[in-house]
Amino acid sequence: MGRFQVIALELIGTAQALVADDKGLLAMDESNPTCNKRFAALGIPQTEEARRSYRELIVTTPGLGESISGVILYDETIRQKTKDGTPFLKIIADAGLIPGIKVDEGAKDLAGQPGEKITEGLDGLRERLEEYAQMGARFAKWRAVIAIGHGIPSRGCVEANAQALARYAALCQEAGLVPIVEPEVLMDGNHAIERCFALTEEVLRMVFEELYGQQVMLEGMILKPNMVLPGLTCPEQATVDEVADATVKCLLRAVPAAVPGIAFLSGGQSGELASARLNAMNVRFSKQLPWALAFSFARAIQQPALEIWRGREANVLLAQNALGYRAKCNRVARQGNYPAAMEGE
Ligand code: 13P
Repeated sequence: MGRFQVIALELIGTAQALVADDKGLLAMDESNPTCNKRFAALGIPQTEEARRSYRELIVTTPGLGESISGVILYDETIRQKTKDGTPFLKIIADAGLIPGIKVDEGAKDLAGQPGEKITEGLDGLRERLEEYAQMGARFAKWRAVIAIGHGIPSRGCVEANAQALARYAALCQEAGLVPIVEPEVLMDGNHAIERCFALTEEVLRMVFEELYGQQVMLEGMILKPNMVLPGLTCPEQATVDEVADATVKCLLRAVPAAVPGIAFLSGGQSGELASARLNAMNVRFSKQLPWALAFSFARAIQQPALEIWRGREANVLLAQNALGYRAKCNRVARQGNYPAAMEGE
């Protein structure tokens, strides 16, 4: 077998493992500014040591590997160690978790298009991916952000972000890393669910066109989309089943069957709602879908734990319980057993 065939088989194996056994991903890859913002809101010091302690709390949560297949790390975190000097990457491997890494360099203002963003980070990406692969990362993440508003998004914004996602994904596969392709249509705004549906469909169609253009192997990637939701301030909110129906209908139109898994972002939904909506999708459709419907949440898994921890050593065990609980809720949601299976816990 040639080198490229070996890499292709590895990519397919990793992508399948990330969505196997009703598990999902835990995103813990907040950039320093984002992590600091979440810490500041709770009065936690915004220091490297506080970020390290918090990430240690996450990766040492007992039993995390029962619900989580892989963790998405940030550049600072992948190089860090526990207080007793054990590299996080060793803790992660010992817990049976697959390590991944956020490689985009954030969403920046798109020139000439007020209110719109373009994700940067392609320059030098080949070399950075090589370094992460040598460190042991097996997958990567790149998030594109599309805002809904008056007159936005423009076609230029959607196209530029789709192009960047495809170029990133091709570079990842060249380096033997599974790309998590994340085009996020934001929840902010008062738009109806139909607008989110139409735009999410348009964005996904364009992303897959660009992925095809860059010869990305669909069997060796994971899609990380938003759920189809009404805007946060839309007067007409949708039921859990309506969100499940709209989301699956949209994905069926736009996501090729060759993709092994779809792992949703939570995007600011509460942990309970994110689990309930994922559950409803799996209850109603899992038998008819070509891909696994999984999760790749940050806030919807972490938030209760962060609020309990608040930077205090004495709260670590309780915070880990909360984190493990939300992770388990989402595994159970993949099985279509949420919240029934969680009653009494
Ligand atoms: P949220 O689940 O908090 O939206 O974060 C997911 C993520 O990884 C964003 O890139």
